[in-house]
Amino acid sequence: MASFNLFLLPGDGIGTEIMVEVEKVVAWFQARGIARFETERGLVGGSAYDVHGKAISDADMALAQASDAVIFGAVGGPKWDAVPYDARPEAGLLRLRKDLGLFANLRPAICYPALADASSLKREIVEGLDILIVRELTGGVYFGEPKEIVTLENGEKRAVDTQVYSTHEIERIARVAFELARTRRNKVSSAEKRNVMKTGVLWNQVVTRVGREEFADVELEHVLADNCAMQLVRRPKQYDVICTDNLFGDVLSDIAAMLTGSLGMLPSASLGETDPVTGKRKAMYEPVHGSAPDIAGKGLANPIAMIGSFAMALRYSLDLGDAADLLETAIAAVLDSGLRTADIAKVGENTVSTKEMGDAVIAALDRLA
Ligand code: NAI
Ligand code: MG
Repeated sequence: MASFNLFLLPGDGIGTEIMVEVEKVVAWFQARGIARFETERGLVGGSAYDVHGKAISDADMALAQASDAVIFGAVGGPKWDAVPYDARPEAGLLRLRKDLGLFANLRPAICYPALADASSLKREIVEGLDILIVRELTGGVYFGEPKEIVTLENGEKRAVDTQVYSTHEIERIARVAFELARTRRNKVSSAEKRNVMKTGVLWNQVVTRVGREEFADVELEHVLADNCAMQLVRRPKQYDVICTDNLFGDVLSDIAAMLTGSLGMLPSASLGETDPVTGKRKAMYEPVHGSAPDIAGKGLANPIAMIGSFAMALRYSLDLGDAADLLETAIAAVLDSGLRTADIAKVGENTVSTKEMGDAVIAALDRLA
């Protein structure tokens, strides 16, 4: 039986509550003999600051580096609003992304039929939607230099952000997108703005070449990023994998998210480069939402984004695609049965707690397996 090392970082607020539900799922797969999991828990965010005076300790960083996958809850909360900038809870998340080299952010947008009415769009436009946004995460305008606000001689101020991409950065994100498309419906839509940006011109050229030389079997189309935003709300099911830069990916993935309903439903994965020796890649899996201080400690959090993130770990880090499919089918079955946490319930509908939702997923796994 394959054995995997999971490093669990629950974080703050509802992070700790939803991680408990993932631990139950991990235990279930282990008990069924699907894999052996060594799990270790660490501290990140405000909870780490309270103990170590920083948002993640070097010892926990080392455990993250050594793991097969990091499973991350969420960080932050009003309790830590006044801590020094470098120790703020988000610094833990940023250090993990940077030190693990997590350049590829995967955000699926899946519309479960049972929740199609929770979408901001009409049911027929989103029902059955299953797209994947692959966003470059460590380059582009959020990191490019110069990045500054300068005061000009006439006293006016001028702010500068710089969008920078090199061939290598575009090649590796394109490869991730093409590889994922092969496991799905075999189509990549690359979104940039080559009409007005040099980075868009290079992006277009590099993705085209990688596609032609290495993935001739995968359909590739180029779409201008603004048109992509429009198409996402007009006819989103035309897409399979959307590959885009950091800034456009930030916006497009939030648009796609709202096609599917609540923040409490949205998982994500962040992947690093594959180690040529071990063949493994660093990876972290986390819900898209934050620590939700408004509902923390009340048992109200929806654990599905967190459990869905673990399903992505099964698929992308542990090579257990069948187990991932099973877990996602269990989640869909629970939603079909009508169970709702408060965030996905309609007014007047009965709601269940975090624990009841987690227990229902386990019960569905028992029934389906
Ligand atoms: P948030 O995502 O924590 O919450 C936004 C709204 O969605 C809240 O009303 C919350 O109750 C609800 N919500 C979020 N997740 C939910 C779930 N699983 N089930 C049910 N309802 C859910 O974003 P917000 O309020 O802007 O930030 C709160 C804290 O989280 C801040 O300290 C922020 O910095 C941090 N944050 C951390 C992130 C991370 O760790 N990756 C991402 C976003 C925010
Ligand atoms: Mg965003």
